Amino acid sequence: MLSPTQIETWHRDGFLVLPGFKHADELAAACRRAHEIVAAFEPGAHSSRFSTRDRSQLSDAALLASAEAVHCFFEEEALDDAGRLRVPKALSINKIGHALHDRDPVFDAFSHGPALAELAADLGLEQPQVWQSQVIFKQPHIGGEVGWHQDASFFVTTPQTVITLWFALEDATLDNGCLWVQPGGHRGPGSVLREQYACERPADGSAPRLVMRALDSTPWPTTDEARPLPVAAGTLVVFPGLLPHYSPPNRSPKSRLAYTLHVTDGTAVYAAENWLQRSARLPVRGLAYLPALTPRAMP
Ligand code: FE2
Repeated sequence: MLSPTQIETWHRDGFLVLPGFKHADELAAACRRAHEIVAAFEPGAHSSRFSTRDRSQLSDAALLASAEAVHCFFEEEALDDAGRLRVPKALSINKIGHALHDRDPVFDAFSHGPALAELAADLGLEQPQVWQSQVIFKQPHIGGEVGWHQDASFFVTTPQTVITLWFALEDATLDNGCLWVQPGGHRGPGSVLREQYACERPADGSAPRLVMRALDSTPWPTTDEARPLPVAAGTLVVFPGLLPHYSPPNRSPKSRLAYTLHVTDGTAVYAAENWLQRSARLPVRGLAYLPALTPRAMP
């Protein structure tokens, strides 16, 4: 349970750093499973390179197809101009997403349980709904920068409720691209939502289109206003959807594996324009662990 001081920090700074939230055996199981998924991945119809700077390069269809599945996405710098791998496959993956928490038994167990349910309750979520899970690799030497953004751009609810749970599966350092946040950037005049990543679904039935809409011209923080969050493996960093954050590229020889969950409150209205929607085949669920629902086979 969070202490009153931690709750005060959450409201004041807009983030909490919780060292030791996950134990070594849970981290080992998650890392092992992530590498197994990559080893089994056959680049093909669902593969796409993921640009963390220019999202227009992302294949809309590949992203949409991952909403209820477990797909791998390449690092932008992993492929040459002809689409050939420049590095071994195991070192080429940017991330795995986006339904690991519902489709994969190892990540299902990692993503649910009383500790997470209690944390969400302490942070004011009445009906947690876990929409997205991602393993983010930040590969040695080629791990891309993730520019300043707010996660609420991707999970719009009314009122705004999304929170991010960011688990360090490995040590995150200044050298391998740890998170940087703007303390207090979730409140006050600068806390406005600057962008919305919207899915336009044409009435004529043509393919959906993903667009990043500018909502507000408030500038992103400068590096001077930002604070790095180097954390040890097992640490959980949690922050609300309006908090600006980014992570620099990884030019070091060490990977920086992280796992994220995005959780909204079911009492709020989840925008129909959000790219990630769930069908009746795989309804969104909360943070309590329900073993009867696992394993959930791929469709
Ligand atoms: Fe983010």
